[in-house]
Amino acid sequence: MIRATLGLVVGCALAGAAVAETAPADVKFGEYGEVAASLTGSAGDPASGRKVFSERSAGNCVACHTVSEMVEDVQFHGDVGPSLDGVADRWNEAELRGIVSNAKNVFDGTVMPAFYKTTGYIRPGDAFTTKPATEPLPPLLTAQQIEDLVAYLMTLKE
Ligand code: HEC
Repeated sequence: MIRATLGLVVGCALAGAAVAETAPADVKFGEYGEVAASLTGSAGDPASGRKVFSERSAGNCVACHTVSEMVEDVQFHGDVGPSLDGVADRWNEAELRGIVSNAKNVFDGTVMPAFYKTTGYIRPGDAFTTKPATEPLPPLLTAQQIEDLVAYLMTLKE
């Protein structure tokens, strides 16, 4: 809850403190970019995931994706990415975890950001400093936020 509202700074502090979590560099991706094991070791909370999805300081997935059940109470649904209505019919839990952790493994060259990644960026500091930023960079979302998102996405069935 606090994490979702205060966003990245608090999120990263908590991620650093937690013990049972899988660190971004240790995530085991399968052949198709899927991630079988929960990053926190337990199931996420769909209600928190819905918030991460919609809040600009958190996932801000609505910047690129629309979800019909959210249209009433959340504004600014983008259409850069596909509608996520019925997404749980198209992908299983491991696949959804893989897409949210690092969509680049599943969709070659996608504009969707890798939300659980700390290294391997293409010179993110380049434009301002002429030097690459020092890795590892903090992940965009915490392990808990990823799991909450996966739990929310799993509710999107048609
Ligand atoms: C900058 C835009 C952008 C943002 C932000 C973004 N996505 Fe995406 N997403 C895409 C695009 C584009 C695709 C389609 C894959 C491709 O590139 O071909 C996609 C695909 C997906 C898919 C697969 C959909 C399907 O039906 O096959 C899921 C699931 C998904 N995104 C979840 C998320 C979640 C959850 C977030 C927030 C944490 C998010 N996305 C943030 C652009 C975005």
